[in-house]
Amino acid sequence: MALSRAARIILVGAPGVGKGTQTERLMKRYPDLSSISSGDLLRKNVREKTPLGIQAEHKMKAGVLVPDAMILRLILNELTNRGWLTSDTIRPYTVYASSFDMDQDDTVDSVFIPSPLRAQKYNYSDSPSASFILDGFPRTAAQASQLDELIPINFVVNISTPADIIIDRICNRWVHAPSGRVYNTTFNPPQVEGIDDITGEPLTRRDDDDPKVWKARLKGFEETSLPLLEHYDKLGVLWTVKGNSSDEITPRLFAEFGRRFGAIDN
Ligand SMILES: *[C@@H]1O[C@H](CO)[C@@H](O)[C@H](O)[C@H]1NC(C)=O
Ligand SMILES: *[C@@H]1O[C@H](CO)[C@@H](O)[C@H](O)[C@H]1NC(C)=O
Ligand SMILES: *[C@@H]1O[C@H](CO)[C@@H](O)[C@H](O)[C@H]1NC(C)=O
Repeated sequence: MALSRAARIILVGAPGVGKGTQTERLMKRYPDLSSISSGDLLRKNVREKTPLGIQAEHKMKAGVLVPDAMILRLILNELTNRGWLTSDTIRPYTVYASSFDMDQDDTVDSVFIPSPLRAQKYNYSDSPSASFILDGFPRTAAQASQLDELIPINFVVNISTPADIIIDRICNRWVHAPSGRVYNTTFNPPQVEGIDDITGEPLTRRDDDDPKVWKARLKGFEETSLPLLEHYDKLGVLWTVKGNSSDEITPRLFAEFGRRFGAIDN
């Protein structure tokens, strides 16, 4: 289905709520939508040894978080390379990311975006083809404010599923790690409890599926997402969807998304 204008989307929801599922379904229904994942951009830049990738790898090897400024740079580069973001004073890019060298005196830790860039005003495309779901960033209100300076997000979805329902879902999930086979103790149990049907090897639970680990992650998520959601609520772009399963949430999301961004058929 076609879009009437650019959609710039962020999905916010507790770990295990099914953001990936909704992203896939939205992209399938609306081919104009791309997924831009900060994690993927980071890995790609590290692999291709771009200047940013090299700096980020140093950070990771030193065991420190990759600074927000670097992540923003990655997103900026990606949007610029796609032609969705332009600035009168930016050089045109032909090579992925690598043209975006840091100047020697731009310490990425101390400034969000090096000053010559910060002073710049970016122009963004409102063409439907410049539509994306941003994944992995921003996670905090501070990051969201920084992103606002580059490009305005215009639809933020607060995906809401009761915590006990998510817990039930993840407690039911067992995997055969070597093959990736997933069992579901309610709907698709292994023939012998705790044992893979094909190899007879033991099943394990992914770390993320351990209820204790999940509860700790949920707590962290709630603390950071509250101000993040409030930030976007103030900007008038937040919408909350409730549902106990992805299948319940998808039609509601499609309806709202279509209302906001769908092209009108003539
Ligand atoms: C188990 O399978 C059912 C039916 O396919 C599905 O609705 C549910 O989400 C699955 N649970 C997990 C943990 O995968
Ligand atoms: C997001 O959804 C949760 C769960 O329904 C709700 O409590 C919260 O108020 C929503 N956040 C905002 C800012 O609307
Ligand atoms: C979703 O789960 C809650 C309990 O956590 C229940 O009260 C509610 O009825 C459920 N909604 C649907 C549509 O099944």
